[in-house]
Amino acid sequence: MLVFATNNAHKLREVRQMLTDGVEIKSLSEIGCDADIPETADTLEGNAELKARYVSERFGLDVFADDTGLEVEVLGGAPGVYSARYAGPGHDSEANMARLLREMEGQENRRARFRTVIAIIRNGEIRTVEGIVNGKIATEPLGTDGFGYDPIFIPDEGNGRSFAEMTADEKNALSHRGRAMAALMNLI
Ligand code: IMP
Repeated sequence: MLVFATNNAHKLREVRQMLTDGVEIKSLSEIGCDADIPETADTLEGNAELKARYVSERFGLDVFADDTGLEVEVLGGAPGVYSARYAGPGHDSEANMARLLREMEGQENRRARFRTVIAIIRNGEIRTVEGIVNGKIATEPLGTDGFGYDPIFIPDEGNGRSFAEMTADEKNALSHRGRAMAALMNLI
């Protein structure tokens, strides 16, 4: 059994869909952890490690944690590690997407990438893996599936569709989290 240090239902569903048979995953709430683990590091690696260590130290269980950022070329890699709070604390994905579309108004260079870092602690040993998908920021939201910035991210390999216009399987096959999970599966 492995704990996935999240209570984000979307991420849990994606990760459970991607797992090889026989690997059982429990969320934070399923191990009785209702804490909102502080993400105070200034890198994706740092936050993934913080979350994994929190669970490992308090619960003594094998655990992995992910942190994801949307890195936009013309914005120097922003919002990056601050993607969840881009529109300010307490704002939702709609507000984050609206801010990003505003920042990108009139920009010709719309290159961006999603990057996921996963930290895993097993038997007290910590390792990290990452997954990247390259693409561009749409000029308006497209599609209704997925979560977060999915409606405005168009991966290079998706025939021009946004992540929110793909089935879950299509997104998982080429997404940042799918690739990081594949690297994780290779490791364990
Ligand atoms: P975190 O990994 O939960 O910190 O996510 C950071 C930000 O990126 C949040 O605003 C998420 O909604 C967003 N995000 C994370 N993964 C995805 C994804 O697969 N698609 C779109 N947005 C995502």
